[in-house]
Amino acid sequence: MPSAQLSPIRVGILGLGTVGTGVFHVLRRNQAEISRRAGRDIVVTMVSRRDVAKASEVVAGEAQVLADARAIVDSPDIDIVVELIGGTTLAKSLVLQAIAQGKHVVTANKALLAVHGTEIFAAASARGVVVAFEAAVAGGIPIIKALREGLTANRIQWIAGIINGTTNFILSEMRDKGLDFDVALKDAQRLGYAEADPSFDIEGTDAAHKVTIMSAMAFGVPVQFDKAYIEGITCLSATDIRYAEQLGYRIKLLGITKRTAKGIELRVHPSLVPAKRLIANVEGAMNAVLVQADAVGTTLYYGKGAGSEPTASAVIADLVDITRLHGASPAQRVPHLGFQPHTMDQAMTDLPVLPMSEVLTSYYLRLRVSDEAGVLAKVTGILAGNGISIDAVLQREADEGANQTDLIILTHDCQELLMNETIAQLQGLVTVLAPIVRIRKEELA
Ligand code: HSE
Repeated sequence: MPSAQLSPIRVGILGLGTVGTGVFHVLRRNQAEISRRAGRDIVVTMVSRRDVAKASEVVAGEAQVLADARAIVDSPDIDIVVELIGGTTLAKSLVLQAIAQGKHVVTANKALLAVHGTEIFAAASARGVVVAFEAAVAGGIPIIKALREGLTANRIQWIAGIINGTTNFILSEMRDKGLDFDVALKDAQRLGYAEADPSFDIEGTDAAHKVTIMSAMAFGVPVQFDKAYIEGITCLSATDIRYAEQLGYRIKLLGITKRTAKGIELRVHPSLVPAKRLIANVEGAMNAVLVQADAVGTTLYYGKGAGSEPTASAVIADLVDITRLHGASPAQRVPHLGFQPHTMDQAMTDLPVLPMSEVLTSYYLRLRVSDEAGVLAKVTGILAGNGISIDAVLQREADEGANQTDLIILTHDCQELLMNETIAQLQGLVTVLAPIVRIRKEELA
């Protein structure tokens, strides 16, 4: 039995909250099977949490509990540090300190890697240790493994993912129950799907962190969160969700990254997606990532993107990977982002991240217009004049007594800059009575 021959790998968890507790419980519950897979036992020997009493309750005497995470990082009795503190300040300094101490790191911290990944991976490579992060993107879905290893033969063309469960839950509620955003958000908070301060989720920041990491892995470029275009779901209305549905679409918050001839698209925003696509039917807090690659075609990864044991599943997968390779030469390990680091700078020059104005996509437009002769002709005339091709038009009957109505237009692909100019022209028509609603559309074919 390998686990009898080798001493256990000793793990220290920084921040024993929901995920850390899940790691502790799953490791204990599945210990025998995990040891058979890893080749030796993996044991949590130290945990930290400010509330020491709470942590002590969880570990019930099976691990040492400390208030100070640094003591774990500095301990000579720890082989792998699991960082579950979150944020980019204390977590960054602890991760860098662990690397400097020659310890492998497992982290679920997408913000840390999306913003400081280049520095952290460089430090880890220089010190010959691993920073593993399966839990950072889409929780329990093994998408990092898929991108870095399973799809390694492919030239990846694009990735589109529902990678934030909170916003997907809110959008599902808005569609199912016809709720407006504010009401659906309150429901999500009451049910524990949204945090008291939900801004990272609803503004799209969390999804942008995750798609930034996937973009780097898909195209072999450094993480570039600062270049991501980010738009959340706060301005979406039940009206647009309803109209989209009538046109055969659902609205999802997508993290998208695409390789084009000019560069890489890196963006998060609400998107219409054809209702017949599998990904359009991912509801509630579930996550899904669609990857288009040249050899394999389209693959879809679906599962829980958050939660105690789903995220623990990803953390433990990393612990097992590191355990198997413990003692191996760093050159034999899979590179952090799946590409050999020395190839990354050149790739960045070859493939810059495009500004949003250069992105090519299709659009849903909703115009509140006067219901009078010639309005549709003027609107379509401006679109035609700018070379924008219309895919579908939906015009509602005039609201009773108001003599105004909603005109919904779906376009074919055009450049965002041209669409911005076109919307400005349309907005200038006296018969357009309210700010035009624009939502991007992805066919994901
Ligand atoms: N808050 C995230 C979500 C989970 O709602 O999906 C952690 O990234």
